[in-house]
Amino acid sequence: MKEITILGSTGSIGVNTLVVISQHPDKFNVKALTANTNIDVFLKQCIQYKPEYAVMVNEDCASKLEERLKKDAPEVSVLTGIDGLLTVAELDDVDYVMAAIVGAAGLLPTLGAAKKGKRILLANKEALVMSGKLFMDTVIENNAELIPIDSEHNAIFQCTSAANASSISNIMLTASGGPFLNTPLRELSSKTPKQAYKHPKWEMGRKISVDSATMMNKGLEVIEASWLFNVKNEAIKVLIHPQSIIHSLVEYKDGSVLAQLGNPDMRIPIAYGLAWPDRIETHVQRLDLLDIAHLEFKEAEAARFPCIQLAREALKQGGTSCAILNAANEVAVNEFLNKRIKFTDISIIIESVMSDITHNSTNTLDAILSDDAWARDKAEEIIRDKVL
Ligand SMILES: NC(=O)c1ccc[n+]([C@@H]2O[C@H](COP(=O)([O-])OP(=O)(O)OC[C@H]3O[C@@H](n4cnc5c(N)ncnc54)[C@H](OP(=O)(O)O)[C@@H]3O)[C@@H](O)[C@H]2O)c1
Repeated sequence: MKEITILGSTGSIGVNTLVVISQHPDKFNVKALTANTNIDVFLKQCIQYKPEYAVMVNEDCASKLEERLKKDAPEVSVLTGIDGLLTVAELDDVDYVMAAIVGAAGLLPTLGAAKKGKRILLANKEALVMSGKLFMDTVIENNAELIPIDSEHNAIFQCTSAANASSISNIMLTASGGPFLNTPLRELSSKTPKQAYKHPKWEMGRKISVDSATMMNKGLEVIEASWLFNVKNEAIKVLIHPQSIIHSLVEYKDGSVLAQLGNPDMRIPIAYGLAWPDRIETHVQRLDLLDIAHLEFKEAEAARFPCIQLAREALKQGGTSCAILNAANEVAVNEFLNKRIKFTDISIIIESVMSDITHNSTNTLDAILSDDAWARDKAEEIIRDKVL
């Protein structure tokens, strides 16, 4: 029986993780759940799974949750704040930590789980994008296990499990192209948040859905892949594949190309991460190759998706540039979701913040956190002063 903490249990990945766990009650037990403000969903999860700990980061919400749990699940201990997240990520008797908080808020607890040598199921790509080498070193030094949950990286993990890293020539990350793949470029600036987060293939949280529309998601994934698989920027290709059936591919020196296929359903990589090196039933719809028959591939146009190049540039710069890129993107996406800027302003703001980098600190936690804060202030200043 493996004891599990789910960071971000009320989100799209968190909910799917609970679905998979529920199908295997003999193998997994929910030790702790966390959320930020979504009391209604979190309360139901606490009553159903009766975790030992429930963390609501927002203090007011934590007090309300505690009150509401008195009747149905008084045995659940309610914690709050970043201390609560760190406590449940680092518990001695937790085996696996699903890192499914969105954005930079997931960095410290995910690093905490790495320090304690847990198996980390990494959905929260922003944590790795921000901290890169620091994160990978922490995993190695503490014998933690790092299993990527992003479907692309999970696919590559599956395709490289028996490989020697030096035999890889290229990694090909596939991308659906998002909702605006075929939108005339002149119409992009008038796209609304609702249109941006209506993803054609995946049901995901709002931030990653907007990231998919700008394809910053793929940019973050290029950075993520370079750290996870120790592959250079130039050897990571991005390939648009609108059907989202091939989740990514690896080309080897001898010309062999290995790919992982499946219907687009996050329960597959989640189950893989939970069961690895075994496999468990997921009850997802099976892939029928006769049904899909034709698969398409095309290049990502630079003019439509400038965020990919911005991410590659940050990766090339190194230091804290990726943390700065990530922070500027988080601010810009949030402002777009709140209808304060246009869709096309997102990449302009990030580029503007990046062009103001006058320093390139080494990758310590202090430097990452301080440059993350600097980039957020800078992005807000650009929006406030409307220098767009
Ligand atoms: N969804 C997917 O299919 C998918 C696929 C690949 C990778 N990912 C990655 O997985 C992560 C989660 O994505 P998602 O789509 O599941 O996001 P989501 O649906 O927006 O869920 C985010 C989760 O994080 C919690 N959260 C938000 N802000 C927080 C804060 N400041 N402190 C602590 N917790 C906070 C939320 O709690 P509340 O509900 O209380 O706000 C929720 O539980 C992202 O990094 C994303 O890039 C997702």
